[in-house]
Amino acid sequence: MGNHVETLRWNGSQIEMIDQRLLPQQIAYPAYDSAAGVAEAIRTMVVRGAPAIGVAAAYGVALEAERLKTEPADVFIKTLEEGFKILAASRPMAVNLFWALNRMHTLWENNRHLSQAALADRLLQEAHAILDEDIQTNRQMGAYGASLLEDGMRVLTHCNAGALATAGHGTALGVFRSAVESGKKISVFADETRPFLQGARLTAWEMVQEKIPVTLITDNMSGYFMSHGEIDAVVVGTDRVAANGDVANKIGTYMVAVLAKRHNIPFYVACPLSTIDLSLPDGNAIPIEERSADEVKGYRDCHWAPEGVAIRNPAFDITPAELVTALITEKGIVDNKTLVSGGLVDFISKKTA
Ligand code: MRU
Repeated sequence: MGNHVETLRWNGSQIEMIDQRLLPQQIAYPAYDSAAGVAEAIRTMVVRGAPAIGVAAAYGVALEAERLKTEPADVFIKTLEEGFKILAASRPMAVNLFWALNRMHTLWENNRHLSQAALADRLLQEAHAILDEDIQTNRQMGAYGASLLEDGMRVLTHCNAGALATAGHGTALGVFRSAVESGKKISVFADETRPFLQGARLTAWEMVQEKIPVTLITDNMSGYFMSHGEIDAVVVGTDRVAANGDVANKIGTYMVAVLAKRHNIPFYVACPLSTIDLSLPDGNAIPIEERSADEVKGYRDCHWAPEGVAIRNPAFDITPAELVTALITEKGIVDNKTLVSGGLVDFISKKTA
């Protein structure tokens, strides 16, 4: 279980990514062979979800080096640096993007002595490693997260933090998968997640594929189900966590966290260490991506809002650390007490020492 959905796959010379804009109606794997191509795929949400964006960007760098490897040195260096910039500008939220680009850039700096062909090969090996490590990380996070869920629990999730948002297994959905693998019966409530419908299109699809019981609800229904005692826990993913434990995730997550607090329901955030941004003191410093008004006007070609109406479309919001019951990382669980007392920095330095 967990690897049924292939989000990114290497075909020997290109990276193929499942086109998430078309799911679940169509399964297509466009192939990419340059940094600009991968950046466009990230920008247009062919690939989305913080860890998957990071993995895609790593391949973007490797493909660019491969494409340029027979160019003169000055062209190679200049164009590859531009490739890094194009990828960094593709989407602002997911810190995994910058984490992966930094890792690739450091590798380049440390291997300046290699020939261009050898460097391109080394960068490709690193992209493969980032992909493999992501699946490994999700499995470790899944095991920690599964220990928090009891047999029979009904869990709510928002957006898609599944195999599709990662290299495989998923973060929040990885927790559900791991719990099911360990023999627990888990049933999932999926918020549809307007405006891009990642819950209705992607989370519901992943769960149906794997026969994990899933119920789709619209975003304004979670309070109803919580107040009727039908939800036992919430697990979501995240795009960036600040040093004080404030969590950025898909718009609407904050609303769910407030409701969970009101109803005394644990609110867990599945968060690989690569998603924690210690350079930002708190959630106010996290840049929020505003997306096109078209996404709110309607869906795909069907627009239902009147022309001329003012529209706002912040794609993410911040859930303050005080509302987070625990962060589930691949190195263990960070509880609310640790988070609100500023213990996240300490946790990371101990776990990465
Ligand atoms: O706009 P998206 O679809 O990229 O947003 C994705 C999310 O908000 C996910 O919850 C987050 O990236 C975590 S994915 C493991």
